[in-house]
Amino acid sequence: MLFSELIKQRRSVRSYKDQPVEKEKITQCLEAARMAPSANNSQPWTFLVVEDKELKNRVAEATVTLGFNKFTREAPVLIVVIRERANLFTALGGWMQHTEFSGYDVGIAVSHFCLQAAELGLGTCIIGLFDQKKIKQILKIDTKKEIALVLSLGYTDAPVRDKKRKPLETMSRWYSAE
Ligand SMILES: Cc1cc2nc3c(=O)[nH]c(=O)nc-3n(C[C@H](O)[C@H](O)[C@H](O)COP(=O)(O)O)c2cc1C
Repeated sequence: MLFSELIKQRRSVRSYKDQPVEKEKITQCLEAARMAPSANNSQPWTFLVVEDKELKNRVAEATVTLGFNKFTREAPVLIVVIRERANLFTALGGWMQHTEFSGYDVGIAVSHFCLQAAELGLGTCIIGLFDQKKIKQILKIDTKKEIALVLSLGYTDAPVRDKKRKPLETMSRWYSAE
């Protein structure tokens, strides 16, 4: 698939088929995330693959927030993405720039994951609303760690929708020589 087609194919999928996802395909998505760029190549992420049905169902419940994210109950796989602490050198760069690069880094890695999944015919949804404390308890994650995002993953019948986006003129500006 051409990249230009792939980015249209990737959409937030909120309904899943009751069909397991092959381990090799999940590994391929993880491999795509592993190849993502990051500040100072710090790779500040860990991806936890939750396949076990009982655990997955408990994590799914922890993502249901104010009526949102009920679809996670249907997804056969949930991926919990930890944002790891940047090493000293990277943290110093971030401090100089008044930012934390690790948030961007995790976002790029997650994007790689989702695009690879789309190429493999799998649907994903990035989930930012969840109960941080509950998921840490369920998966026995160190309380000092930060769960950045959860991803749902699975096969879907959901159609590809047209994207609603701000117009190009609003989201970009050119500084060109006349
Ligand atoms: C950081 C982040 C957090 C998000 N959190 C949620 C969420 O909690 N629940 C949900 O249904 N969608 C969530 N989304 C999906 C967005 O709503 C979706 O990407 C956006 O509406 C664009 O639609 P598309 O992904 O289909 O192109 C999140 C997306 C991002 C990038």
